[in-house]
Amino acid sequence: MALRPYIVGNWKMNGTRAMLAEARSIDRGAARHPGVQVGIAPPFTLVHTMAEAAEAIGVGGQDCHAKASGAFTGDVAAAMLADAGAGFVIVGHSERRAMHGEADADVRAKAEAALAAGLGVIVCVGETEAQRDAGQAEAVVTGQVAGSLPQGDVAAAQLTVAYEPVWAIGTGRVPSVDDVSAMHRAIRAKLVELLGEGGADVRILYGGSVNAGNAAELLAAEDVGGALVGGASLTAESFLTIVAAAAIDGE
Ligand code: PGA
Repeated sequence: MALRPYIVGNWKMNGTRAMLAEARSIDRGAARHPGVQVGIAPPFTLVHTMAEAAEAIGVGGQDCHAKASGAFTGDVAAAMLADAGAGFVIVGHSERRAMHGEADADVRAKAEAALAAGLGVIVCVGETEAQRDAGQAEAVVTGQVAGSLPQGDVAAAQLTVAYEPVWAIGTGRVPSVDDVSAMHRAIRAKLVELLGEGGADVRILYGGSVNAGNAAELLAAEDVGGALVGGASLTAESFLTIVAAAAIDGE
């Protein structure tokens, strides 16, 4: 891996203050792997407290609103996340796309708001099982990249793309290493087409049922710059095994 590997935990709607001890363990463990960038995106309610205590990890949000403020009950603006101590935000996760009707244009607007607030942004893309079975996976995913990426001048270091096949999320099923490599190559080509030279420096994470047992193999796949981890990020034991696998692969 030429770029510094990036391992991000997406806690989804899991975690009360009792989980902060787990985050502290992850933080201490991550400090032993300075060659790996590590982040956790807890529920909004834990962002501030976790960020205050974090020394080695970044803390992020799982979503943000595209607008800076206003009458949007229940939503959180990117600048509010930054104010709470977040350094990044995930946008366009397939659960948001599917359950909250977010389209590429919405994801793009959120990504642009995140960058404007000074946050790094992780833009998620991924095909459904039906789309893969129909041979449309690459077209769908590169289309999502083209439609969801923030426009204008984007510093590659602030932008990350996460490839998460919808059918692999939370299912225990993962694509073959060859399929992951092929998709990451296609995403890379699209990034270079859209961003020019800077597109070569954007990290592309793989996500979907990454765990302590399969992380090393997936992280070694061509152009996999790290992982977005759901279930296996909830305990320090499994998440730090994945961080350690990225450290080995990055050497
Ligand atoms: P999973 O989730 O690791 O539990 O499959 C990944 C994600 O949705 O980001």
